[in-house]
Amino acid sequence: MSPKGNRRVLVSGNWKMNHTHYEAIQVVQKLAALLRAAPLPEDTDVSLHPSFTSLRSVQTALESDAVPIALGAQTCHFQDSGAYTGEVSAEMLAKLNVRYVLVGHSERRAMFGETDEVVRLKLDAVLWHAMVPILCVGETLEQRESGAAESTVATQLTAALADRGREALDSIVVAYEPVWAIGTGRTASADDAQAMAASIRGELELLGGEVSRTMLVQYGGSVTPDNAGELLACPDVDGLLVGGASLDADKFVAIASSGT
Ligand code: PGA
Repeated sequence: MSPKGNRRVLVSGNWKMNHTHYEAIQVVQKLAALLRAAPLPEDTDVSLHPSFTSLRSVQTALESDAVPIALGAQTCHFQDSGAYTGEVSAEMLAKLNVRYVLVGHSERRAMFGETDEVVRLKLDAVLWHAMVPILCVGETLEQRESGAAESTVATQLTAALADRGREALDSIVVAYEPVWAIGTGRTASADDAQAMAASIRGELELLGGEVSRTMLVQYGGSVTPDNAGELLACPDVDGLLVGGASLDADKFVAIASSGT
C-alpha cells in the first residue's frame, strides 16, 4: 500500500476577496470546460471557496453543469443567527450546499482577531451543520526563525482538536500554511512541508490515535503549477490550499491535476 494509505487528494481554491459574482461565473464556466476536456485524477477532489456574494452563483453554475468541484466558503460565524451585523452563519452556508469551510485562516487570525477559542467554536458550528472544516494552522517567520514552528502549530491543533470524538476528527481537514509563504511567492520547500506535515501527524496521534493516519493534511502558501507536483509527492501531504493561483482557471486545473 502507498505511504498515504487510502487518503484522497484535496485541492482547494481560496479566492479570498477576489472576483465579483460575474467574474466568478466566468471562471467556473472555464473550469467546467477544462475539466470536461481533461478530467481530474480519480483520487482527487477539488473545492472552490469564493466570497460570500458569489456563493449562490457559483453553486448554481457548478450544479447546473455537474462540474466535479465542491462548493466551499472562507469563514463563517459560530452562531446560527442573531444580532451579528455583517456575519454569515454555518447554517446559512449549509443551506447553499457548501461542503467545505476554511476555519482559522491566518489572515482571519491576524487581521480579524480570530483567537484559538473562536476558531474552535467555528469548527463546532461547521461540524454541527455536517460540513467539513478545513482547519488552517501555521507559524509566522519570526516563530520559525526562533525554532518555535512546530510548537506553534501543535498549540493551534490542540486548541482546535483536543477532546473531540473519532467521528468529529474524521470529518476535519488540516491545512498547514506557513504565514511567511502566503502570497509572498516564497513556498516552503517540499522538505519543510513534509517535515511539518509529519509533525502534524505526530500531534494527531496524541489527539486521536488512528486518525493521524487517515486525516487529510494540505499544504498552502504560494502553490503554483510548477511546485504542486513536488509538494503532492510528499508522503504526508494530501492536498493543497491554493490562493492566488486558484483565481486563474488554467493554473488551478493544472495544480489540481498534479497529483498523479
Ligand atoms: P497563496 O495563498 O497561494 O496566494 O499564497 C494561500 C492561502 O492563503 O490559502
